[in-house]
Parts: sequence; C-alpha cells; structure tokens
Amino acid sequence: MTEDLINKKDIYFPSYLGTNDNLNTLLNRANQILCDWFSKAEKFGPLPLDENFKCLMPNEEGNSPEDLFSEIQSLLNNSFNPVHPGSLAHLDPPPLIFSIIGDLIAAGLNNNLLAYELSPSITLLEESLCKWFAKKIGFNDSSGGIAASGGTLSNLNALIAARHNSGLGSDPNSILLVSEDAHSSFIKCIRIMGLNESNLVRIKTDNNGCMDINDLRKSLDNCSIENKKIFAIVATLGTTVRGAIDPIKEISEICKERNIWLHIDGSIGGIFAITSFPIEGLNNINQANSITINPQKIIGITKTSSLLLVSNMSILENTFNTGLPYISSKENIINRGEIGIQGSRPAEIIKLWLGLRFLGLNGIENILNSSIKRKDFFIENISKNKFDIYSGPLHIVSFLPKKLKPKDSDAWTQTKINELINNNFMLSRPKFKGKYFLRVVMGNYNTKDSHIEELLRLLDA
Ligand SMILES: Cc1ncc(COP(=O)(O)O)c(C=O)c1O
Repeated sequence: MTEDLINKKDIYFPSYLGTNDNLNTLLNRANQILCDWFSKAEKFGPLPLDENFKCLMPNEEGNSPEDLFSEIQSLLNNSFNPVHPGSLAHLDPPPLIFSIIGDLIAAGLNNNLLAYELSPSITLLEESLCKWFAKKIGFNDSSGGIAASGGTLSNLNALIAARHNSGLGSDPNSILLVSEDAHSSFIKCIRIMGLNESNLVRIKTDNNGCMDINDLRKSLDNCSIENKKIFAIVATLGTTVRGAIDPIKEISEICKERNIWLHIDGSIGGIFAITSFPIEGLNNINQANSITINPQKIIGITKTSSLLLVSNMSILENTFNTGLPYISSKENIINRGEIGIQGSRPAEIIKLWLGLRFLGLNGIENILNSSIKRKDFFIENISKNKFDIYSGPLHIVSFLPKKLKPKDSDAWTQTKINELINNNFMLSRPKFKGKYFLRVVMGNYNTKDSHIEELLRLLDA
C-alpha cells in the first residue's frame, strides 16, 4: 500500500457507505505484523528483540500508513513477548485468540458502558455475564457485578461499597483488615479513600502464607477496645508471592458474628471457583459480600479483564448512583456507569465473553488444570536439598537456596535472573518479608515439561 493509493482524509474514520475496503486492507496489514511478531518469539525469547524504540511524537502533517506500520513493527520488536514458553515471571499469560478478536471488535464498536443508550447489547451482556459468574460462585438472585480495568479498581469498588454500606462514610477511625501477604493495591485503596496506612491493619500469616485466625481475632478485639470501626475484612484467594489461600470459612464466620463486610480478593484464584476444579479452600466463597476475579491473570483474557461480583447489587447502586443528568434512562435497566467508580468504559466484556464462549467450562478447566500440573511438575523436580520452596494450592512458586542469608538474597536472585534470561527464561524477583525470592508463575500454556526441565537444569547449575 502506498500513500498515493489511499487519500489520507478517506481513512480518518470507517465509512458508513460501501465496503470499507481501505479499512480492510489496513487491518489485514496490522494483522500480518502481529501474527509474524508472535512467531518471532521462538528465535528471540520473551524479552524485546530490539532496544531502540523511538517514541516519535505527532508532527504537523501526520504520518503515512507506511510510516505507522513501520513504527508498529518497531513497537512490537521492542516489547515483552508473553507467548514465549520461557515467559514465566508474572500473572501475564499469552493472550487468548478469541480475546484478541474481542478487543478488535470492542475497538471498532466504540460503544460506551457508561449508559444503556450508548451500548445497548453490551450493557445487557455485561450484566448477564456478571450474573452468570455470581451464580457460578454460589451467590443468589440479588447478586451481580461490574467489570473494571484491573484488580486494583475492582478491589477499590468493593471497599468503597463496603464503607458506604457500613455507614462509616469518611470516618477517620474506620479500619480495613487484610493479611500481611495481601496485595499492595490495598495500600493504594486506603490512600484513595482519604485514609492513611494506620487505617490498614495487617494480620499475621502462618507458615503457609494464610491469614492467622488467632491474630485476626486479637486484632478485632483490639479495634473494639480502641473504638475503631471496621468497614471490611479482606481474605486473599491466591496471594501474589506464593498463591496461598486465606481460611475463607473461618473468616466468613467471624464476619457474620460481627456483622463485617467480607471482601475476597480472588484476583488470582477466583476464576477457579467457576469450575469444578478441586482447589483446597475454595468452598464457602459465596459467604462473602464481594469478590474480585481477574480473568486476565490466568486464562489469558487480554488486559484488562477484571470483575467485581457482589452478593447484593443494590449496594453498588446505592453507593455510586448520581442520577447521571445528561443521560437518559430506561426502565429496569441500570446505566452501568452508575454502579462503579468508572464512568466511560470500553466494552472489555466482549473479549471475556468471546474467550469464555470459545473455551467453555471444559476449556477453562483445562487451562487451569494445566497451570497446576506445571507447578506440580516444577515442585516435584526441583532439588529439595538445595531450595526452600514457598507455594500454595495455586500455580505460583517462590524459592530460595537453603541457608542463604537475607542480605545475600538480593545478589543471588539478581545473578540468577540474568543467567536465566540469557537462556530465554524470564522469572520475577519479588521482595517479600525482607528478602528477595525467585518466583515462577506457571500460567503459560505454551510451556511444556521439557521447558521446565531445562529451567530446573539451569537453576541447578
Ligand atoms: C492478589 C492480587 N490482587 C490484586 C492485584 C491487582 O491487580 P491489577 O494489577 O489487575 O490491578 C494483584 C496483581 O497482581 C494481585 O496479585
């Protein structure tokens, strides 16, 4: 394609006339570049194959399609490649193909989840899919949910609803309890909510990385002695560093006894709850008031894809509704910009819907099962004489050489990370309880046993 073939002004927007041949040509070209890039990973590994990306800014006349395609190519060449089997560092698996298609369709539709009139079919789709998820995890008819751009935002939606529901408003004495291994997004949430870190009480974890129930009871008693009011307890269903699951049954009983909102941060492990995959500690999650589930983290729905599910939808409406004066409303249909923090929102639900429709429950279970199998294979075969291993029921493993002094963990993990990346394995290096660890996240469907054997050989060397 050359500039003289296409008049630039003709390709500003899709046309409402004819067959949009120009758009079709451009999309095919973009498609080709993307598909080629995926397969370059075989040769180049998970890290960018170039380090020369030029962040060019818009100029007076605008650039030609040719310029832009060459810049897209350069952007891709300078990007992390999640499809490579050695990409095992984070909760960022390869993108599911039907999810990529969903993103394209969502961009083309450009509908807005703010309001029904701007996204009629997608509003209904989001409402129905959230309800489907809510029912799958065992919530009843009054349940539902809302999508948000990532787990942090879903957690924030939940905590704002919890505080609103508790009547604590902006009470500076209001307290949130989380385990010491809970995700750092709760620190952000507390700040955004106008509180400070003394309002975030950290409960100790046991040797398995799960919330210690005795310490939870002690902290609750201390709060009541000090006249501090608790607006929520968070149980983590899959901690970031080792995939541990807090004792949800016991925590939910305590919440019921004391009439406290239970939020489950299931950003990592929540997706297991919609299948019959047997994961220890997954029962009783329907006792929560709210739960975050991030399908982007294991099953490859493209980012971002996160849901907040609530047992009682009317609490989201009461918390966030403003009346939205410039938008018309339709009887019995909620404008979905009115039940969460975000106003205008893309139709991210499409890629989740297409991804799940394509996989079916068996496909979802297959992906989850394969991630646990890879984790098990890794743990079975790593040298137990050499390494201390930290892992829970999910697909994440952190480890360190036995008897390594905390002060030496920084240098050891850095050296190892470099050695591994030179061999096309990308692991992460979380800092946790004063030490650095190596962490492997087994959510990459392209990783086979032979790759894990090679990784273990390099670790052993
Ligand atoms: C347990 C847990 N909760 C919440 C989050 C935040 O999710 P996001 O990065 O999608 O905002 C993460 C991120 O890794 C996480 O591991």
